Amino acid sequence: MRQKLAAGNWKMNGTGAVLAELEALIQAQGAAKSELLICPPATLLSRAAEIASGSHLAIGGQDCHAASSGAHTGDLSAHMLKEAGATAVILGHSERRADHGEGSEGVAAKASAAWGAGLTAVICLGETLEEREAGETLHVIGTQLATSLPDGATGANTVIAYEPVWAIGTGKVPSLEQIAEVHDFLRAELATRFGADMAAATRLLYGGSVKPSNAAEIFATSNVDGALVGGASLKAADFAPIIQALDAS
Ligand code: PGA
Repeated sequence: MRQKLAAGNWKMNGTGAVLAELEALIQAQGAAKSELLICPPATLLSRAAEIASGSHLAIGGQDCHAASSGAHTGDLSAHMLKEAGATAVILGHSERRADHGEGSEGVAAKASAAWGAGLTAVICLGETLEEREAGETLHVIGTQLATSLPDGATGANTVIAYEPVWAIGTGKVPSLEQIAEVHDFLRAELATRFGADMAAATRLLYGGSVKPSNAAEIFATSNVDGALVGGASLKAADFAPIIQALDAS
C-alpha cells in the first residue's frame, strides 16, 4: 500500500517571513494521513527543518550536485541538504532542465548522490506542449524515465513526479484521461524494469497547476498517488485543502 504524498515546491520564493506559512500548515494539517513534504529555497532549509521537527511534515531540497564536495561554486551536495534537515530532494525539475541545461544522465547521477546521502529522490519528468501535440508524450516520458532513474531505485528511495512542462504555473491542466495514460504507463514501465513489487511501492505524483479546485479529481485518477505543487503550496490556506483532498481520496 503506497502512502499518499503531498509535496510542495516553493521554488525561488520566500525569505524568512514565509516560514509562518509552514507553522500554519503544521497546525492545520498536523494529523494528515498523507505524507507531507515542503521543499523551500536552500537558504530556509535548516530553519524549516527546525520548525517541522517533531511534526510529520518533512523538508526537502530542490536540487543537489552529483558530487559530494569540491570546486562547484554555488552548488550544494546531497550530504549538505541532509545535514540541513532535508529527507528528500527534487531532481530534474523542468525549470532546471530548461534554465540550467540539465539532462537526464545528470539527473541520474544526482539521484545516486541523493540515495548515497540517505535522501529520497523526487524525480521530475514531463513533455513540452510541442512534444504532446506531436504525439510524442509517452516516448518522451519513457525516455526520460529510463535515463533519469539509475539502477537501484526502490519505492522507498524514489518518487516520480509527472509534470507536463506546459502545465507548470500556467493554470492549464491535462485532461484526467491524459494524466491517467501517463501514470498507467509510468507504473508499467517501472514494473518492466524493476519488477512488480517496486512498481507497486513507488509513488507517482502529478504536478502542474494543482489547486484546491482541481485536486480531488486529479487524486481520483488512476495511479496518481499525490501531487507536486508549486504556486498553491506557498500559502497554508491553499495547500491545506489540497492535502485534505488527498487524505479523502
Ligand atoms: P505549479 O508548479 O503548481 O505552480 O504549476 C508545479 C511544479 O513546478 O512543481
